[in-house]
Amino acid sequence: MAHHSSALRVLPLWIVLAASMPAGFFSLKSPSCHEVKTAFQQRQIGLLKWVPDVPGTEEDLSICQHKEPTCCTRKMEDSYQLAVRRETIEKIQALSMEIKYHIAKNAQSFQDAFQSLIQFAKNHTTSLFETAYRAMAHEATGPTAEFFTDISLYIFGSNGSVEAAVQHFYNNIFPSVYNRLLNPGITQLSMEFTECLRMTRPSVNPFGPHSQALAQNLSRSLNAARSLSEALSLGMEVINITEHVSFTRDCIQGLVKMHYCSHCQGLTLIKPCANYCLNIVQGCFMGLTELDHPWRDYIFSLKEVTNVMAGAHDLEFDLLGIQSQMNDSIFYALQNGPRITATVNKVCGAPAETDTYLPTESLAAHVTTPTGKPLAPSGELSQKRR
Ligand SMILES: *[C@@H]1O[C@H](CO)[C@@H](O)[C@H](O)[C@H]1NC(C)=O
Ligand SMILES: *[C@@H]1O[C@H](CO)[C@@H](O)[C@H](O)[C@H]1NC(C)=O
Ligand SMILES: *[C@@H]1O[C@H](CO)[C@@H](O)[C@H](O)[C@H]1NC(C)=O
Ligand SMILES: *[C@@H]1O[C@H](CO)[C@@H](O)[C@H](O)[C@H]1NC(C)=O
Ligand SMILES: *[C@@H]1O[C@H](CO)[C@@H](O)[C@H](O)[C@H]1NC(C)=O
Repeated sequence: MAHHSSALRVLPLWIVLAASMPAGFFSLKSPSCHEVKTAFQQRQIGLLKWVPDVPGTEEDLSICQHKEPTCCTRKMEDSYQLAVRRETIEKIQALSMEIKYHIAKNAQSFQDAFQSLIQFAKNHTTSLFETAYRAMAHEATGPTAEFFTDISLYIFGSNGSVEAAVQHFYNNIFPSVYNRLLNPGITQLSMEFTECLRMTRPSVNPFGPHSQALAQNLSRSLNAARSLSEALSLGMEVINITEHVSFTRDCIQGLVKMHYCSHCQGLTLIKPCANYCLNIVQGCFMGLTELDHPWRDYIFSLKEVTNVMAGAHDLEFDLLGIQSQMNDSIFYALQNGPRITATVNKVCGAPAETDTYLPTESLAAHVTTPTGKPLAPSGELSQKRR
């Protein structure tokens, strides 16, 4: 039964082939290389005059040797080699153009999606400060913007660490938490005291376990995003290497045999069978060890991305969770206010204020020069609390 059905499928193919067979030198009346000439010209393989008018016996063919009379010459073989090389590169480039386009498009939508996710998380965080911690909202703007810029840079390949960005953020907001939320009576801290708060934040640990938790959650999910970003640019690189690949002599000769030796016999329309074609092409790429490594790296990084993405850590969830984890941190500081203040005063001394005369609101508007320096000379107006 199986043989029967495969025979049925093969039969019409021969009929089609025979019907489309050109009247080359199979026609006994006038053996001619007319069809070969036509194909030679149409495919821009070389000059028409290089093709003989009638088949002859050519002794020095190196690729398309054949006992029968042939329409090919050594010079034509050389042209076939050049043509097959050019055609193969064109095919690879046509294919890779499509892959490139898809990779570039994916890279772009990935970038857009994460930029807007980050923007969204930043808005959330900003509104947390504006609604729940209004007293420090203004001062939190800078550190918040810097933090989300760091995150964005990290995803797209900068070599800072998420951990460092999180710690930096908490160091930067600690003076405001201390000054605006825990000890709102003090209007403006001196530069030295502010710096001391920043420096000692990791050991004072005003945010308890929450600062570390944020760093950990974000590290895991941002690493996944970063791997994806890396994989996409690696993909572009691999495609580029593939496009600039060189072919071995054996490969080119194999391709000529496959595509053009039939022309020498006047058969310009038959196509090589699929298995033969596969063999030759595999042979071609076998020699291209230079491609092996980049493609393997690429496959590896895609697998890695898949694993991380499929894991429990969802970037969207974690990014949108940032503001709730920051809220937890600040809430923790509020609950531990007296302990934190006592520890700070032990380490940094009592806060030196630059100015205690202006009320908070107008102070915020007038206290800094464009260079960010306090207007009042540090120390002159400062008073010690208690
Ligand atoms: C974030 O807020 C800005 C202004 O507050 C707004 O223009 C923007 O559309 C918001 N973005 C998102 C993603 O919500
Ligand atoms: C990033 O890495 C490069 C080399 O790997 C190094 O020269 C550069 O200083 C690093 N930048 C940062 C901000 O760590
Ligand atoms: C592609 O590769 C070639 C050489 O292999 C290199 O000169 C070129 O800069 C690369 N282009 C891109 C966009 O990577
Ligand atoms: C952070 O990770 C912990 C487990 O490590 C998890 O319990 C918590 O829900 C996560 N928080 C957010 C906001 O993703
Ligand atoms: C901040 O956290 C506290 C304690 O969990 C909670 O009561 C409060 O509603 C939170 N505020 C916001 C704005 O999420």
